[in-house]
Amino acid sequence: MKLETDKVWMDGELVDYEDATVHVLTHTLHYGLGAFEGIRCYKQADGRSAVFRLGAHIRRLLETCKIATIDCPFDRQQLEKACVETIRANGLEDCYIRPVVFLGHGEMGLAATSNQVHVAISTWPWGAYLGDEGLEHGIRAKMSSFNRHHVNASMVKGKINGQYVNGILAKREAMTAGYDEAIMLDTEGYISEASGENIFVISENRIFTTPLGSSILGGITRDTVAKLARERDFEIVEQRFTRDFLYVADEIFMTGTAAEVTPVREVDDRTIGTGKPGPITKELQEAYFDAVKGRNTDHPEWLTIVE
Ligand SMILES: Cc1ncc(COP(=O)(O)O)c(C=O)c1O
Repeated sequence: MKLETDKVWMDGELVDYEDATVHVLTHTLHYGLGAFEGIRCYKQADGRSAVFRLGAHIRRLLETCKIATIDCPFDRQQLEKACVETIRANGLEDCYIRPVVFLGHGEMGLAATSNQVHVAISTWPWGAYLGDEGLEHGIRAKMSSFNRHHVNASMVKGKINGQYVNGILAKREAMTAGYDEAIMLDTEGYISEASGENIFVISENRIFTTPLGSSILGGITRDTVAKLARERDFEIVEQRFTRDFLYVADEIFMTGTAAEVTPVREVDDRTIGTGKPGPITKELQEAYFDAVKGRNTDHPEWLTIVE
């Protein structure tokens, strides 16, 4: 299967999809030390396309490199420019953007430090990650038997390739059991996040989300939605909460670049609220789509136009 894309940016140049390959002894393939991002570009209300919060994503990519002790050979400006160039080369209006920084081949073993650091940027059209139906009517989530990483075992603020084994196992377990998404607890038993999304819970008109100081990825969508909510005079409370707080919530939604703002209609077979996306979820979902699609001009700094 080929993703719908023609050109991939590799180490400073655009190459054909078929030529964007790596050696089987690529270090990151074996041990997982690498950094990646997930970014979206949206067709705007005025017909142009724009990448949403590109600066924040590239910043997090470089922070992940720093956390993972990877010396990225390209700087922030070069990487931002490369993302835009790749979208343009593929003629995409709406797409997902996947930069990855990885260690090449030549030396094996955990002590290896001499492998070249490579950067690849791919783009492809990607619809609703948790499905159109989920985006509109809400998804069914299940508490995972896998804990989210302990903060002393993994570097939880980094999007480090190998760490995603944990999320994949949780996601597969939930899907095999017939659910759409897994919600993970931290190692102390408090809610952490979903396999690839942060979580928001609404109780008596207050919006709760797990704090940045806990075992969660600092989601850029989480930050965007919190800002949009505060601008609409909602109170955002960042604190730890337990799984039963979810069962009795009025509304729940998840945020992520891929999943956008997805309502949750069921957790562990308990109906959340009325079983339909609630009013606050709908308001914030609409505000989010207005922002990413340029229908709301309050935050021009969030949009990088693809020219
Ligand atoms: C584990 C995890 N949590 C949360 C998120 C949401 O982050 P963002 O909103 O920056 O896409 C992601 C996606 O990158 C993720 O992989």
